[in-house]
Amino acid sequence: MGKVIVGAAVIGAAAVCAAAALIVRHRVRNSNPCVKSANILKELEEKCATPASKLRQIADAMTVEMHAGLASEGGSKLKMLITYVDNLPTGDEEGVFYALDLGGTNFRVLRVQLSGKSVIEYKEFAEVSIPPHLMVGTPDALFDYIAAELAKFIADESEKFHLPPGRQRELGFTFSFPVLQLSIDSGTLIRWTKGFSINDMIGKDVVAELTKAMDRQGVDMRVSALVNDTVGTLAGGKYDNKDVAIAVILGTGSNAAYVERAQAIPKWHGPHPKSGEMVINMEWGNFKSSHLPLTEYDNTLDVESLNPGEQIFEKMIAGMYLGELLRRVLYRMAEEAALFGDTVPPKLKTQFILRTPEMSAMHHDTSPDLKVVGEKLKDILGIPDTPLSTRKTVVEICNIIATRGARLAAAGILGILKKTGRESFRDGEIPNTVIAMDGGLYEHYIEYRNCLENTLNELVGENFAKHIKLILSNDGSGIGAALLAASHSQYI
Ligand code: GLC
Repeated sequence: MGKVIVGAAVIGAAAVCAAAALIVRHRVRNSNPCVKSANILKELEEKCATPASKLRQIADAMTVEMHAGLASEGGSKLKMLITYVDNLPTGDEEGVFYALDLGGTNFRVLRVQLSGKSVIEYKEFAEVSIPPHLMVGTPDALFDYIAAELAKFIADESEKFHLPPGRQRELGFTFSFPVLQLSIDSGTLIRWTKGFSINDMIGKDVVAELTKAMDRQGVDMRVSALVNDTVGTLAGGKYDNKDVAIAVILGTGSNAAYVERAQAIPKWHGPHPKSGEMVINMEWGNFKSSHLPLTEYDNTLDVESLNPGEQIFEKMIAGMYLGELLRRVLYRMAEEAALFGDTVPPKLKTQFILRTPEMSAMHHDTSPDLKVVGEKLKDILGIPDTPLSTRKTVVEICNIIATRGARLAAAGILGILKKTGRESFRDGEIPNTVIAMDGGLYEHYIEYRNCLENTLNELVGENFAKHIKLILSNDGSGIGAALLAASHSQYI
């Protein structure tokens, strides 16, 4: 008897709570949405905060992981991949060389004519977008498509480019995914990132796959160098400026490469490079640390992604994800604070509908009535006539997400400066350090770029900041791959 009464009381209490929750939710949506949306915004700002002290902890954690990744294969979430590039281009490279740059939604083919005197005499390229179904299809379908485009590009080679008689054309293949390199011209895919998910490729030699496709498409060309885009950017940057020691990509994905002392790579058992150095592809996108300011939006984005649990740093800082984080915050505000009126705009439910270039355009809107924001909300999400207060909220969210991303990227760079000991030099001994930057996010999202540069200066301090320079190495990854194909040519 007593039990029944208790049970009934519990059910009654539950019903009252549920009804109260409904009332509360109803009240929140309809009575004071401004307060609720201000609260969500405030909470976002707090959770995304990146004070310098936190960034230093993140940089230190990055340094620790770099050591662990160099010590043993699988020693860290940071793969710290050996690239077999132990010599960067010198300027003596000569002749016509090709590159194929694959790693995002577009790929590029290019050719350069090198003078042998540090000059690129001619350069031509073509950019082709990859049909989305090929990013999740079969290896043959993707590589056949690419090889067919390469065949067309070669067929267009003009007389400015001189391939000496009897020679085979050579190609640098920039493949911007994690690859376990077996030599300068071979390597197996570790896993896909950035929305690619092609079965039957993991563990396969990517050069062999491309070579088979080139054979099928009648392309007579040898892959002389397989490189990550960060490594290509480092090589391309070094060709122009001898102080380049680090390369960072901030595009669809994000990653960094740098020149490491061979002695500081315990897991390297190959012959000691003559230069005493080796380029390391960090795959920093997969960095993870308890210090990272993760929010509920990051967590759900990750869980619902094609690669849950992987590329956590990348998902906070790179171009593929910033717009999607913005969408997730807007969705919550639409649902809980009626940001766009009584109903949630249906298009706002579509993942990845808000792309980072769109977010950037809204963030940079300087018109008094935030006209661009209004247009984007209308065109992309089908939300007509948003009030100015709503548009301002959208810009604030863009700012919070972009600022966090840019500051975290700066912390990553500080981690590399610390690992290479550059950060500990005293005044007067500080080496000039040039960082070659590439990727659409860095190139086009000016607020992001400025914030990254200011944060780096803030973190390293005034004296060291004078010796650091970030340069945009446009096309660096493709040109760098062509240069590395030249320095690893079969005819040398
Ligand atoms: C992803 C890839 C990495 C690449 C980066 C930038 O993080 O895993 O290899 O360098 O994107 O394109």
